[in-house]
Amino acid sequence: MTCWRVMSDELLKIGLLGRGTVGAAFAELVEERADEVARSTGRRPVISGVLTRSEGDAGAIIAEADLIVEVMGGTEPTREYVLAALNGGLPVVSANKQLLSRHGPELWAAAEAGGGQIRFEAAVAAVVPVIRVLSESLNGAQIDRIHGIVNGTTNFILSEMASTGASYEAALAQAQQLGFAEADPTEDVSGADAAAKMALLAQLAFGGWVALDDVVFEGIEQLTTEDIAYAREFGLALKLLGTAERVGDAISVRVHPAFLYAAHPLASINGSFNAVTIESPAITEITLSGPGAGGPQTASAILGDVVSVLSGVPAIEPPQGEAKLTGAVHSAFYLHLEVADKPGVLAQVARLLGEHGVSVKTVAQSGLGDNARLVMVTHSILESDFYSACDQIGELEFVRAAPRAIRVIDEQFIG
Ligand code: HSE
Repeated sequence: MTCWRVMSDELLKIGLLGRGTVGAAFAELVEERADEVARSTGRRPVISGVLTRSEGDAGAIIAEADLIVEVMGGTEPTREYVLAALNGGLPVVSANKQLLSRHGPELWAAAEAGGGQIRFEAAVAAVVPVIRVLSESLNGAQIDRIHGIVNGTTNFILSEMASTGASYEAALAQAQQLGFAEADPTEDVSGADAAAKMALLAQLAFGGWVALDDVVFEGIEQLTTEDIAYAREFGLALKLLGTAERVGDAISVRVHPAFLYAAHPLASINGSFNAVTIESPAITEITLSGPGAGGPQTASAILGDVVSVLSGVPAIEPPQGEAKLTGAVHSAFYLHLEVADKPGVLAQVARLLGEHGVSVKTVAQSGLGDNARLVMVTHSILESDFYSACDQIGELEFVRAAPRAIRVIDEQFIG
């Protein structure tokens, strides 16, 4: 006897814009999961049209579809196609963080005017459900800070450097060989990809619009195995960290390399995994982690959004005005100096730091022939004050190489 089940013949026609790794994986997943989706939502998903760089008519695909999945990437002509779909009242599911973080207000306005909606779980950390948690599960909590490892390529490179002692260049080459890093890795290693993702998370956590241009970012290209070795000595792990946090009545959104103390939940996230820590006085902290890239993983997040649309899950709230941003943030720092090994050097460095209000927490010195390497970790300080001190130290006659400064996340959670 066959089991009882609700099946519907009503189709959900999906217009698929883009058929690269993610698009192809999504088309496969739709076929594989069509029965399941039909059973749970009453609509059977089918791909009704595919647009690639060389084939397909975007206008015809959009006109025929009930829903658009956009995995083309880039901002033009993608923006034009997504706007056409939203203006026509279609739901759009997109994995395109660059498009969303550059043109959000225009897209939300089109969704509102046309009666469509835009969902984008796959745009940040792929299958890790951080968008859903911020926009649904944590609606009742005031979020004060998000830290994220939201780029798998850079996390893979830094993990390799830490575990094998490989140089940045060698670890990047390995990431490329294994297919984690693109032939042109700039978007990932410069921090731009993570910055776009943090802009989206900040918008969901704090409500106001944050554009990609508002996010200050630095990449991992300058990091050395020496930095990582010292990090280990101090019990720290080096990560490319995204931060979105409340600072007084404003917010700060930034991406930069940072040392994490060993007990931080993000310190143990290695390889190409992503993870996001959400902090709130009501919940202390939660961490979500998992594969943050890859065809099947990203496709799974996209199909999840398709099911949300079909199930009538309320649309994600559009941003409420523009976020008020600030760059006046505090951080602890790791400072690496190469100096002449002679009397008074440490005292002069300490004096300059003290004059700028920088308090030293730990310090280590090792010999380099006539020179010495001084490595210290400071207490938290206004970043601009630290950099003033650092610039002045760099001018001292006994300093042999440009000082290297990396932020340190050593405080406990907001509680
Ligand atoms: N290239 C990204 C990463 C995935 O390495 O995490 C897509 O944003």
